[in-house]
Amino acid sequence: TKEIRILGIESSCDETAAAVVVNGRDVRSNIISSQIDIHTLYGGVVPEIASRKHIERVSQVVEKALEDAQMTLDDIDAVGVTYGPGLIGPLLVGVSAAKAIAWAKDLPLVGVHHIEGHISANYIENKELEPPFGCLIVSGGHTHLVLVKDYGEYEILGKTCDDAAGEAFDKVARAIGLGYPGGPKIDKVSREGDADAIVFPQGKVRGSEYDFSFSGLKSAVLNYLNECHMKREEICVPDVAASFQKAVVDVLVSHAMRAVEEFHFRKFAIAGGVASNSALRHAMEQACQERGVAFYRPSPILCTDNAAMIGAAAYYDYRKGIRSDWSLNAIPNLRL
Ligand code: KG4
Ligand code: ZN
Repeated sequence: TKEIRILGIESSCDETAAAVVVNGRDVRSNIISSQIDIHTLYGGVVPEIASRKHIERVSQVVEKALEDAQMTLDDIDAVGVTYGPGLIGPLLVGVSAAKAIAWAKDLPLVGVHHIEGHISANYIENKELEPPFGCLIVSGGHTHLVLVKDYGEYEILGKTCDDAAGEAFDKVARAIGLGYPGGPKIDKVSREGDADAIVFPQGKVRGSEYDFSFSGLKSAVLNYLNECHMKREEICVPDVAASFQKAVVDVLVSHAMRAVEEFHFRKFAIAGGVASNSALRHAMEQACQERGVAFYRPSPILCTDNAAMIGAAAYYDYRKGIRSDWSLNAIPNLRL
């Protein structure tokens, strides 16, 4: 059978990325140009600056992805691109670039949902992984507990009612003076802290077993910091970080395992930027092992925003005959 070679493009937030993926799982190149250094100066992603940087970089990133794959556009069978959810300006840059390439080369265009991309990152390093399985997607913008019924077929079991898990990490990191992006910094400093030092509340959502809420936890951390300040007590940053991280990980794992039990999943995967958190990986692995469930998690490079995952997701849509037309637009609040 013929190889299907997909050029994936991703630009939904602050990473300009392009990749070449063969038959959905074989990554021939994976180029990520991060803007983190620029946005760090502002303490978070500035959408307007992100858009401009994507424009400056997208062509080079695509060229580099082809070069690393030792291919030219003539070798490509389809172009896959993230069209939502994400920041409107940044998304538009990727969508426009993908359309231009597809139009110029007369290639099929496949619009990909960003979350579907994150989920599909798990197919790349686990050639045997196939639906159905459960998946927890935790990133800066999303916290979704999903039943992956088949390729491209999802049922959302639960999601966050307020902040995303990564957003909570970033906000708490800022409050304890660790800077942006907070997730990796909290992860690191937590290793020197006592996770049982402070008991922060696990966010509970009334009437829902699977939904998440992290804004209460964030407020609890802020209140704790204020109290220390008023009492002139010293704040132990590693303890606060570790205790906060534990509260997040505990609620993520308990919801995930409740779903494992109710839906009898034999396989469970995690995805998204927060899936590189070492405490979450460890706790999920252990919880899955105890239940005899196969656990999957992408390498950190495939957890963050990248285009290989978009190429993987686009392949399964492509195989189903799904094509986008020239009216494909960026949709900031696209639903799964
Ligand atoms: O998936 P991603 O790269 O972008 C979005 O689609 O949002 O996720 C970025 C998020 C940020 O909030 C970042 O702080 C968080 O993932 N993150 C982490 C870790 N690495 C990245 N959170 C906790 N622990 C980590 N090691
Ligand atoms: Zn993402």
